[in-house]
Amino acid sequence: MKRVASGILPVIAIDRKAPKPLHRQIYDAYRTAIIEGSLRPRQRVLSTRALAAELGVSRLPVLNAYGQLLAEGYFESRVGAGTVVSSALPEQFTASGAALQAARSESRYAPRPAAHRCSLLPQRETSPWLQGLGAFAVGQVAYDQFPLQVWSRLVARHCRSMNARSFHYGDHMGLRALRETVASYLRTARSLRCEADQIMIVSGSQQAIELSARVLLDPGNRVWIEEPGYHLAKAVFATKGCHLVPVPVDEEGLNVAEGIKRYRKARAAFVTPSHQFPLGVTMSASRRLQLLEWAQTNGSWIIEDDYDSEYRYESSPIPSLQGIDANARVIYIGTISKVLFPSLRLGYVVIPPKLIDRFVATRWAMDLGCPGIYQEVLADFIGEGHFARHIRRMRILYRERRSALVASLRKEMGSAVEVMGSEAGMHLTVNLQNRADDVRIAERASSQNLRLWPLSVNYLGEASRHGFILGFGSTAIEEIPRAVRKLRKLVEGT
Ligand SMILES: Cc1ncc(COP(=O)(O)O)c(C=O)c1O
Repeated sequence: MKRVASGILPVIAIDRKAPKPLHRQIYDAYRTAIIEGSLRPRQRVLSTRALAAELGVSRLPVLNAYGQLLAEGYFESRVGAGTVVSSALPEQFTASGAALQAARSESRYAPRPAAHRCSLLPQRETSPWLQGLGAFAVGQVAYDQFPLQVWSRLVARHCRSMNARSFHYGDHMGLRALRETVASYLRTARSLRCEADQIMIVSGSQQAIELSARVLLDPGNRVWIEEPGYHLAKAVFATKGCHLVPVPVDEEGLNVAEGIKRYRKARAAFVTPSHQFPLGVTMSASRRLQLLEWAQTNGSWIIEDDYDSEYRYESSPIPSLQGIDANARVIYIGTISKVLFPSLRLGYVVIPPKLIDRFVATRWAMDLGCPGIYQEVLADFIGEGHFARHIRRMRILYRERRSALVASLRKEMGSAVEVMGSEAGMHLTVNLQNRADDVRIAERASSQNLRLWPLSVNYLGEASRHGFILGFGSTAIEEIPRAVRKLRKLVEGT
């Protein structure tokens, strides 16, 4: 059942000088609110006493108006629930229902005005691989392994101790205690050169990308993006009015020489060097140095999205690009989504010192900061060692899931697929040697509860690879062989 807000005062303009009696004004206001859909079925209305007090009128006209609304079936009385908007009003009889239905069918079938159309905006409605849970869903963590008890204890502790300061807006850069723990974590685990003063807490990597684009880019600027690359970064740059320059990714990561050939003077490059999205390759040391040199020579910026570097299985973690940048040309972005859970919506940006003021001003104009309570909880979660412990446990679990997936793919599909990028992160990529139509297979797979993200849709130009991005974070080991068999049948059936 849809949840509704209870006991909220609708907008009622009372005019004591008007010839219309007060009870009629109240009756009309409620009736209009119901017909127009500002009040919905089953929504509880204020008690007559409370409404009279809110409006500063005696109870009598309110009682009269409610009596009329009850008699005509707009309101109904429920034992224990007070007076509610009648549930017997069919949605299509109210203006809101009719308008909503019209708008829905319009958005589905009618072309949108050209000014609002952007072919790079992800079509959530029509992309089954981006929706819901299911085997191989990308970006999903092992939810059942999350230390919920520890987390809820910390949440309760911080709720209980809220004071005047915690109720107010916080620092626009984020909670100091969290920025300090994040800085210390990044210096140690990711070899970043950073201080807490450079760290801004944001609502996930997505906000960090949006913020970086607002600070660094103007409409018409060129931006190098990896080909294939991360759709939500492309969507940000495209909606900002930038021109995307796709730069091919090979086994060493972004091909810098090719980028220079395509557009040397690009204003920025968006890269995922630790675990390229989606192919999973790690950028080689020489490419990293070439990229940094290009940025320094051209006065360009590098946006480093280090989204899942906590999990590396074959070797020790690769230091970040930011950590070897001597010229402060890198904006480093990290997220809590992959380590804890995505709905937390917390991440961070490490800002080059000379850009801090611009980032703060831009952020201030965006949303004034992230929820303070969860920043406090996360600061303690990291500071008390739960974060490091959780990462260690998950690294073992994901390594097992990854190995089971690679083994199943070898057994079931053999040389029909090339497996790429399984050394790190929570997804790997399979490249279909027969170049079958990966989008069609993915659409069919969704009805079998398989979330196959087609590789080809991640290209801006013509796709040189067809295949799938397979997430293994939330796919249990026991589920993997069956899911791979389904995948094989789907591929063979094309
Ligand atoms: C390349 C890349 N960057 C970042 C993210 C995480 O985004 P957020 O921190 O906004 O949840 C993802 C999630 O799937 C991703 O694939």
